Amino acid sequence: MKVIVVGASGAVGKAAADALAVRHEVIRVNRSSGDVLMDIEDVDSIRAMYREVGKVDAVISAVGHGHFGPVDRMTSEQFMKGILHKTLPQVNLVLEGFEHVNDGGSFALTSGVLNRDPIRGGSCAAAANGALDGFVLGAAVDMPRGIRINSVSPEVLEVSRQKFDGFFHGHYHVSNEAVGLAYCKAVEGCLSGRTFIVDYG
Ligand SMILES: NC(=O)c1ccc[n+]([C@@H]2O[C@H](COP(=O)([O-])OP(=O)(O)OC[C@H]3O[C@@H](n4cnc5c(N)ncnc54)[C@H](OP(=O)(O)O)[C@@H]3O)[C@@H](O)[C@H]2O)c1
Repeated sequence: MKVIVVGASGAVGKAAADALAVRHEVIRVNRSSGDVLMDIEDVDSIRAMYREVGKVDAVISAVGHGHFGPVDRMTSEQFMKGILHKTLPQVNLVLEGFEHVNDGGSFALTSGVLNRDPIRGGSCAAAANGALDGFVLGAAVDMPRGIRINSVSPEVLEVSRQKFDGFFHGHYHVSNEAVGLAYCKAVEGCLSGRTFIVDYG
């Protein structure tokens, strides 16, 4: 299969890309490095990426960020950061991608643990994650030509332990192998409309 991985130089995207590259042709897409450059927050850039890569069998997105801070001090602008920088760019990757994905292909988006196991200051991220997981559930029943769509929702990765040190008290740290398997299931499996939770392994 030919598989696009957006965010392939990041912690999650690298786990996905490396797992799939064993068996498939993986196109690594980031903003500043990789096989193709793209800014997922710019719809024209998404369109240019699809034109450059051509038809594919799967599209994975592992990007996004939001606002962290106490809910009683969050402004609506800060809340929107999760929607604008995590949810909407990944949704746009799907909306712009239909004609570039082969029949029976798939999309896999990335949410995260915070809408099922919250931490203080994480309500913006929790909402962005919930929106993504809800989108794939709702979109799956509408997908044309046998195209599937899922999300992957990992716990904090072992490789990201230092980056999030002090924020995820009591949370498990998951391996690249466990995270990679979830994206393999999304791309190579048969399910659609699911959120593949990676809480252990
Ligand atoms: N790390 C974790 O433990 C963890 C756990 C659960 C969920 N997640 C979620 O997984 C996603 C990725 O997190 P991460 O930790 O892997 O991030 P990361 O290590 O910071 O990597 C981010 C990746 O996205 C790319 N990127 C950033 N902005 C972009 C843009 N506008 N257009 C295209 N590519 C862009 C980066 O490439 P450039 O450097 O070239 O910009 C990089 O490849 C986030 O939504 C995060 O919430 C992460």
